[in-house]
Amino acid sequence: MLTTESIAAVRAEVAVGATLPYSWYTDRDVFAAERAGIFAQTWHYVGLVDRVASPGAVMRADLAGMPALLVRGLDGVLRGFHNVCRHRGSVLVREECGVRNTLQCHYHAWTYDLDGSLRAAPRSDRENGFDRGVFGLAPLAVDTWGPFLFAHPRPDALPLHDWLGEMPALVAAAGIDVDTLRLHHRVPYSLHCNWKNAVENFLECYHCAVAHPAFADVMDTGPDAYRLQVRPSFAWQHGPVRLQSRGLYPVADEVPAGQYFMIWPSIKVNINPGRPNMSIGPVYPAGPHRTDAFLDYLFGEDVPPEWIDAMVAFDDQVGLEDRVLVESVHHGMSGGGVERGRYMLNSELQLQAFALWVADRLAAHVGVAVDA
Ligand code: FES
Ligand SMILES: [Fe+2]
Repeated sequence: MLTTESIAAVRAEVAVGATLPYSWYTDRDVFAAERAGIFAQTWHYVGLVDRVASPGAVMRADLAGMPALLVRGLDGVLRGFHNVCRHRGSVLVREECGVRNTLQCHYHAWTYDLDGSLRAAPRSDRENGFDRGVFGLAPLAVDTWGPFLFAHPRPDALPLHDWLGEMPALVAAAGIDVDTLRLHHRVPYSLHCNWKNAVENFLECYHCAVAHPAFADVMDTGPDAYRLQVRPSFAWQHGPVRLQSRGLYPVADEVPAGQYFMIWPSIKVNINPGRPNMSIGPVYPAGPHRTDAFLDYLFGEDVPPEWIDAMVAFDDQVGLEDRVLVESVHHGMSGGGVERGRYMLNSELQLQAFALWVADRLAAHVGVAVDA
């Protein structure tokens, strides 16, 4: 059972280098608290804004298990709603995307205008005092960074750009003009591990020389070359290219370094060296033992297909190696025989920052629940 006191005790131990308790990676109470206290309270990347470019365009999204829909109104305004019918809770928009004049539920045909207001509910004229005005769809906050569309479960969310802070400027300085990128493909995947294992594995390159020989051949992953920084809403890694790389794919070009961002708690932004490229996508808790994720791969318009194929093969190889690592960690943690580990604070400072961030969010969530 999570309490303000138990979280404070964990936080104090993490502050001096202990890992989060391994039980936090399997416990159902922790999972539920993370859903409510973290994923219901943060910005989510949902896809490319051009999918909802024209009036009537609708797309479905998933905010870590929370069904959402994004819709361009007939008035041209982009809006987001919880994708949940206000009658008995059915998911309203079930296909990936489409073009609509109204949103009609497939269960009892309650019908909403694209601005979320309830237009019609069959037989509502037979109900005493039925007020259509109070059964509009529940709104989300929506916002964009360049071509990237984000949604937040709370309509009163901190603006996306305040949340991202200097990250867009760092991406631009890395040699990437996000407005010139084009979507190439999306890779959905699932991992048999807790979502925090997947995030923590992303946040260090201590394992790179051991577990990613191809990556470590392209980038200098040594402790004096590979830079790790933490900002209020994201972590940032900078890997310079090795001059003597064996050239698994051509890296000497307009993007001079690998740069890897994790927007708290779990949106990855990857930039590999070479031609203009980016992959972006979330890591979601689907259960204590399962993580769902996807990555959208984008490239500059004139990047040749051969370069894309070679870089994607490189990236896929790293991903396969990481899958083995995170599933192995989760297996080790799940047995219950060992309760804690230790972060290597020079090489794993981003993991400590992440663990403190998680503990603080859970403390705030539990504190609110106690006060209520
Ligand atoms: S649940 Fe949507 S109309 Fe009944
Ligand atoms: Fe890795």
